Amino acid sequence: METTLRQEQIETLVTAAGEARERAYAPYSHFSVGAALLGQDDQIYIGCNVENESFGLTICAERVAVADAIVHGCQSFIALAVVAQSDNEPITPCGACRQVLAEFNPHLTVICANGKGQIRILKLNELLPYRFELGARG
Ligand code: THU
Repeated sequence: METTLRQEQIETLVTAAGEARERAYAPYSHFSVGAALLGQDDQIYIGCNVENESFGLTICAERVAVADAIVHGCQSFIALAVVAQSDNEPITPCGACRQVLAEFNPHLTVICANGKGQIRILKLNELLPYRFELGARG
């Protein structure tokens, strides 16, 4: 599903992700991430990373945002913004999050921002070609 986002929608999503980032629980990596998902219902769902002392149980901001949307009754998404502080290029969602996001919209628009005004807009199918699909088994 192709959707062209307005500049105002992009800015709103990046702001929401930046605000969610401020609530990250990241005492181990000290790397706070925020995410905001725009639903087909025009609502914004948010997430931040939630770390755990076991390290492996850490949940990324993007998957927390997906859970926020699902529990609020929204299962179709138009765009995701992910914000982390970085001196370099904005970060992109990790592989696990790409697979989880693709479950709901493989053509999702992914807005990556580094909190310093740099924004990169990608499509999820560029970030994750050949995602795992049950139907694609040999
Ligand atoms: N993290 C995210 O929240 N999203 C990503 O896409 C990449 C990584 C979090 C997990 C961990 O809490 C911290 O960033 C460092 O990896």
